[in-house]
Amino acid sequence: MCGIVGYIGHREAADVVVDGLTRLEYRGYDSAGIVTADSQAQLEVVKRAGKLSILKEALKTNPLKGNIGIGHTRWATHGKPNDVNSHPHLSEDSKLAVIHNGIIENYMPLKAKLISNGHDFVSDTDTEVIVHLIEEHYQGDLVEAVQNALKEVTGAYALVVSHIDHEVIVAARATSPMVIGIGENENFVASDVPALLPYTRKVIFLHDGDMALIKKASIELSDFDGNIVEREISTIDWDAEAAEKSGYEHYMLKEIYEQPTVLQNTFGGRFAANGMDVELDLGLDPNSINRVVITAAGTAYYSGAVGEYLIEQVAKIPTEIELASEFRYRKPILDENTLCIVVSQSGETIDTLEALREAKRQGAKTLAILNVKGSSISREVDDSLYIHAGPEIGVASTKAYMAMLAAFELIAIWLGRARAELSDSVASELIQALRSTPGLVEHALEEREHIAQIAEQFKDKRDYLFLGRGINFPTALEGALKLKEISYIHAEAYATGEMKHGPIALIDENMPIVAIATASELYEKTISNIQEVKARDGIIISLANPDDEQIAIHSDHVIRVPKVHELISPMINVASLQLLAYETAHRLELDVDQPRNLAKSVTVE
Ligand code: M6R
Repeated sequence: MCGIVGYIGHREAADVVVDGLTRLEYRGYDSAGIVTADSQAQLEVVKRAGKLSILKEALKTNPLKGNIGIGHTRWATHGKPNDVNSHPHLSEDSKLAVIHNGIIENYMPLKAKLISNGHDFVSDTDTEVIVHLIEEHYQGDLVEAVQNALKEVTGAYALVVSHIDHEVIVAARATSPMVIGIGENENFVASDVPALLPYTRKVIFLHDGDMALIKKASIELSDFDGNIVEREISTIDWDAEAAEKSGYEHYMLKEIYEQPTVLQNTFGGRFAANGMDVELDLGLDPNSINRVVITAAGTAYYSGAVGEYLIEQVAKIPTEIELASEFRYRKPILDENTLCIVVSQSGETIDTLEALREAKRQGAKTLAILNVKGSSISREVDDSLYIHAGPEIGVASTKAYMAMLAAFELIAIWLGRARAELSDSVASELIQALRSTPGLVEHALEEREHIAQIAEQFKDKRDYLFLGRGINFPTALEGALKLKEISYIHAEAYATGEMKHGPIALIDENMPIVAIATASELYEKTISNIQEVKARDGIIISLANPDDEQIAIHSDHVIRVPKVHELISPMINVASLQLLAYETAHRLELDVDQPRNLAKSVTVE
């Protein structure tokens, strides 16, 4: 949450920083601000409440000069999203600026102490205490002042500091992500890789407890006590184009249409030549476990809910799915025979990271399904399986979900084969079906226009229900989440068979119900459940296969999706639900890529 960008070099810093912030706006868009240092006696700042576009307008009338700059796009925690609470926060003499992502947990006692020492506070933020603390400790050495200030601070943060008298940017990390981009006679710092892609692919991911002294031609890394630390330089293989809209109106739409390619990338090189096995480069011994616990948040959690079905059915290992935000507080019981799988696009979600830490504390084996390399989770987990979805910019996750499902398919087959639970014939049937998924998803997306008409018809409804059974119950949950988060329509999902136990009371002629009725063991039961809803005048929008002729009798609208093996159907079915959410929000003229109140990676509890 919150995006930070810093630049030091030979270019106009404001251009680089604003460009970087544009690529990181998915991390928060309550306000934005930038400060640059040129040859004047004080730092120059412009900051505005609202989206980055408002800051960009302000910069047109008040352009900032200088080759050193730091900027921020905010997801508000402490203090309303107004101009004053926007970052950067400056010292009274405007010589020192601080930008921060995270939460300073002990800011209240620190603030009280600083006020009694004579400091005047102007904002309601926790961040401002850092400015005053650094000021208190500053005696000409900026790094030392930051080190001493941070010794007084507790919480999770990534921060950058700029001072008019020093041609440097100081960066520090404690839990919140921060990556340094290495250039030629210029260097960069950012919360996330997309900000750096047009400038460099050579990066250093800071670890917790790292500080960086970033100069134009050098980068020095240390811990908070000043001891030198060495970190690996990684090369990013994403191309800059991957973080652009490439002609699509929204990132979300582009990412929906990227899914066939993403599937090819996730599967790439992982099917064995014999057509029956999966090759995963993991250290885990599949025969050393007797239980799997999957934990994640949001959309990643729903991918895990599909994973639960897959691992139990394909590999016959008892599996549970847990919300990461509940996991460690529920005091779960794990041991060395448990495999804990954490799932996260960003690898930075604090709930998921803490769940991983809990699993490790209890001695469980751990595996992460991740998209972003160099993330916090990747550094702490035993084994990582990368989904290779490329940068996902839309706040509503689509292609990462698809790739997470693909990863669970691979893991389930890999475990099933290694434990001799999956026959040659079933394995090759599943792998063949998986190979067909890129084409089938493409096919499902061809229904866009029809889905758009349905979206138009029901866009003004206040409530929606999504129904699915078996392995497609999580698909219903994900469909409802997508609709909620970008269209602000209240949507709930139920396992179809649960309707009669209560939610059926909600049904009337105003309620659209999206019913997943693709081929499955429970198809007949699903049809009965749909009829129960129809009998109460609900508006049925079915998701069904092309050869299903009877579904039209029970439905008001039918969205056709290609027929595929039931265990693989969540990948095909979800594509239509993503489009339904997209088309609805688009028709409501809402900001599809930056829905209100949300941020892409949630790094606070
Ligand atoms: O980066 P992660 O996969 O850990 O993020 C988890 C959730 O915060 C994320 O999936 C969220 O629910 C998305 N907004 C869903 O579209």
